Amino acid sequence: MPCQRVRQWYILADEKEMPVTTSSTTPSADIDLFEAMYTARSLRHFKPDPVPQELITRVLDAAIRASSGGNTQHWSFIVARDAGVKRQLAALYRKASDHAMAVYASRPKPEHLSDEQYRQFLANSGWLWDHLAEAPVILIACLARREPPERSSLPAVVQARYDAHLANTLRISGSSIYPAIQNIILACRALGLGTVITTNHILYEDEVKAVLGIPDNVSTFALMPIGYPTRKYGPLTRKPVADVTFADRWGTRWPG
Ligand SMILES: Cc1cc2nc3c(=O)[nH]c(=O)nc-3n(C[C@H](O)[C@H](O)[C@H](O)COP(=O)(O)O)c2cc1C
Repeated sequence: MPCQRVRQWYILADEKEMPVTTSSTTPSADIDLFEAMYTARSLRHFKPDPVPQELITRVLDAAIRASSGGNTQHWSFIVARDAGVKRQLAALYRKASDHAMAVYASRPKPEHLSDEQYRQFLANSGWLWDHLAEAPVILIACLARREPPERSSLPAVVQARYDAHLANTLRISGSSIYPAIQNIILACRALGLGTVITTNHILYEDEVKAVLGIPDNVSTFALMPIGYPTRKYGPLTRKPVADVTFADRWGTRWPG
C-alpha cells in the first residue's frame, strides 16, 4: 500500500500553496493517508464525551479544501450541539427512517454482501434511527443553489441544449458538496473521531430546514453525527477493483 504521510496542512493564499506549520494549539494528526481511506468505516455509536470545538473547526477546515464546480464554494455547515436542536433533528431522522426501513425490506440483499455483513449493516443503520440525538455533534452540510443563466442570454448553440443543461444541473446538484463531505469523513478518521454520511432526513428536509433556520435557496446534502466512536475503525471491504473497472471500453476487463 503506498505511503503518504500527512504531517502538514496547507492553506491557499493568493493562489499559492503555503505550508502551514502545525502549532501546539492546532489539533494535528499523523496518519497514513491510505490507512485513513482504507479504515474510515461508517461509525454510528459514540461516547457521550463532548468533541472539543477546535477539533470540529479542524475538520471543517479540511472540508473547505475540497473542490467545487467553478470554485464557487457555495457550501455552508451547521454544527448542532444544542440538545434541543439535536432532539428535533433526531425526531425527523426517525420519522424518515420508517421509509428507509420499508425500502430496505422491499429490496433484495446486495449480492456482494454476505448474510452477516447485511445483517450488520441493517443493525447499525437501524441503531442510528433511534439514537441520533446521542451524538455529541450533528453536522449538516449544505449547498446554495445557483440559478442558471437566462436562456435568452446564451448563444444559439447553447440554447439548443438548454433543457439538457438544466437536467444535468439537477443530476450533479450534490457534486460540489460531496468532495467536502469525504474530507470530513477522512479528517474525523485522522483525529480519532467517528462519523457517517446520512441522507434519510432529506425526505423531511423542509422540516429540517425550519428547525435550523436554513434559507430557501440552500439545500441540505448530508447530516453527519460526529463523536468519539465506541466501535472500531475498518478495514473496509469492498467489491474488488477488477469487478468495477473497465479498460477503455465498457466490458473490457481492467488488467489490474
Ligand atoms: C449518499 C449516501 C447516503 C447514506 N445514507 C445513510 C443513511 O441515511 N443512514 C446511514 O446510517 N448510513 C448512510 N450511509 C452510509 C452507508 O450505509 C455506508 O457507507 C455503507 O453501508 C458502507 O459502510 P462502511 O463504510 O462502514 O463499509 C450513506 C452513505 C452514502 C454515500
